[in-house]
Amino acid sequence: MNADDLFVRNVALPDGRSGQDVLALGGRIVAIGPALAAPAGIAELDGRGLLLAPPFVDAHFHMDATLSVGLPRVNESGTLLEGIALWGELKPMLTQEALVERALQYCDWAVAKGLLAIRSHVDVCDDRLLAVEALLHVRERVKSYIDLQLVAFPQDGLLRAPNALANLKRALDKGVDVVGGIPHFERTMADGAESVRILCELAAERGLRVDMHCDESDDPLSRHVETLAAEAQRLGLHGRVTGSHLTSMHSMDNYYVSKLLPLMREAGLHAVANPLINITLQGRHDTYPKRRGMTRVPELMAAGINVGFGHDCVMDPWYPLGSGDMLEVAQMGLHVAQMTSQAQMRVCFDAVTVNNARILGLEGYGLEVGCNADFVLLQARDVVEAIRLRAVRLAVVRRGRVIARTPAARAALDLPGRPSAVDWGLLR
Ligand code: FE2
Repeated sequence: MNADDLFVRNVALPDGRSGQDVLALGGRIVAIGPALAAPAGIAELDGRGLLLAPPFVDAHFHMDATLSVGLPRVNESGTLLEGIALWGELKPMLTQEALVERALQYCDWAVAKGLLAIRSHVDVCDDRLLAVEALLHVRERVKSYIDLQLVAFPQDGLLRAPNALANLKRALDKGVDVVGGIPHFERTMADGAESVRILCELAAERGLRVDMHCDESDDPLSRHVETLAAEAQRLGLHGRVTGSHLTSMHSMDNYYVSKLLPLMREAGLHAVANPLINITLQGRHDTYPKRRGMTRVPELMAAGINVGFGHDCVMDPWYPLGSGDMLEVAQMGLHVAQMTSQAQMRVCFDAVTVNNARILGLEGYGLEVGCNADFVLLQARDVVEAIRLRAVRLAVVRRGRVIARTPAARAALDLPGRPSAVDWGLLR
């Protein structure tokens, strides 16, 4: 018997098919269908009719800052700007050992939650490139569990911070995967647009993807996403460029947005909303009514733009909560965007799985014959139930091997004449 062979019996799939078996051989899915024959001696997982989903993917995270909450102090105002200032205070105190240890602990949590691919931004505005070295090390250490993709992120501004461009290029030379940016944090609108141009040209030259923090404010006139789309178009970077956050779109004039969406679509831009963070950081300068601040998720989707949800932060200078649970992210996303129809809730599940996989450009992702045997068995019968319950990850499988298990949640009542020990949260 091979360690990367596995037979999964009787599962439901995200597309609604039920009673399916999945056969994985050599770490790949070789058959999916009802009543498959299990090869003799193969390891088996009994799905009990529950949901088997492809692994969760996080399209936007900051692994260099994660689990540092309270160092050196907490963010009292709850704003993005205090978070950036706080991170600036913490940076000189960072050590590589502490960065690696916190990142590995987060990866541990992620795997337990079935989160097996993460795109993490890494701050390059530190001449020592301490965080870059640490996360490159972590990427290598965890690679048999997690696909970790790194974005060279000039947190203090590409043109605003000394050495940022040189450091960003050094980070790419060392093997960081994606070009990042933060145009709304540059000193002027013109500098922001210039930073987008420089970074997109750099990505085109090097054949890399782009993922920028873009227009992360409530300022309706923050329109760098327009430049980002135009540059993607001009340089032929279709499908390779992501605009992250895009919160200013929440506050933009509707006429302007009606012109912007087709441009983003034509440029093949991906969009990432970060519901947990956008709902807490944005609107902080408002009295009442307070804006929600999250970008226009259903409108972007209706325009044919691929939209993913990111976790962004877990226990760091910007956000004190979080646990690596992408179902929590999906649940917050559907609440903030008011996407509560059955079809919309299913789309919110896609936003933390397949849509994010497209953003990362993951190969071999999905529950199809020929794909990697990576999946999560959830204690839920369909994707809506999975979001509702933030379902227990009964088993997490990577390349045909079970790498994490969590015991099923059980109901507590044990009354005479009634069934006991049933799955918690599932209607009988
Ligand atoms: Fe971010």
